[in-house]
Amino acid sequence: MIIAAEQLSPIFGAKISGFDLADDLTDETFEAIRQIWSKAGGLLVFHGQKLDIEAHIAFSRRFGPLFGEPGEASLQETVSRYIHPEHPEIYRVSNIVENGQPKGRKGAGTYWHSDVSFRETPAQASILYAHEVPEVGGDTLFADMSGAYEALSEAFKALLTPLYAWHDFEVAARRQYARPAVIEADMDGANRARHPVVRTNPQSERKSLFVNPGFTSHLYGFNADESATLLGQLYGHAARPEFSHRHRWRPGDVVIWDNRSVMHYAVCDYGEAPRYLERTTVISDRPL
Ligand code: SIN
Repeated sequence: MIIAAEQLSPIFGAKISGFDLADDLTDETFEAIRQIWSKAGGLLVFHGQKLDIEAHIAFSRRFGPLFGEPGEASLQETVSRYIHPEHPEIYRVSNIVENGQPKGRKGAGTYWHSDVSFRETPAQASILYAHEVPEVGGDTLFADMSGAYEALSEAFKALLTPLYAWHDFEVAARRQYARPAVIEADMDGANRARHPVVRTNPQSERKSLFVNPGFTSHLYGFNADESATLLGQLYGHAARPEFSHRHRWRPGDVVIWDNRSVMHYAVCDYGEAPRYLERTTVISDRPL
């Protein structure tokens, strides 16, 4: 089967049209999709999908094991109230409140981050499916961390290559979550991990920057000022428009991003306009 893909921007991202993800995909078709995703730098968009939860999970499962599935790690305890009660693989993102209960995490990911980078085995693909989105606003920005790495000088790449950074859920918890909402057990070290600053995506074999303002606490071995200066420089570089794509959601969109080489930022600019999306999160190998 030949699957046609369109480029989303000169540097990364692709869109596949006229394709139904709810169909039973052969291994060959799935592999073709995965190749397109990988060649597009780990960002792939499908419009007009009608997926039930089982189909969303079944498609996601083809990328690898999922956070929350039986026998696998869950996301951090603090977001457990936003996990679908019958489908622990589904994380719900929403500003809707039903019968006094939030339907999902409001303002999730309103900062540049790579999902779950604070775990020893962080996220690989995230697969976000839009049920209800504002007419205007609530876009998600994506940054191509391979493109950002490749644009650096050889001297700067050589400086970064041997470095490690600590990632800690507490960084986001301190800034983004009201204190009573944070489960203290999330701060006991289980959501803290040290990763290389430059990692290689085993699928594309491309190197990418693997630090993000949402969860990276500091560079290993540097003092606080040095770490903040160098990380600040990398964040400013990676968030440049040349390396980014802004996704304007429509209901029925499925967006798949590769957290090994992409960071993202959910823009929270839509007030009370209802927004409801469901996400599955694939577990990656240990970053190398
Ligand atoms: C997230 O997964 O970080 C949320 C993204 C979004 O709501 O657009």
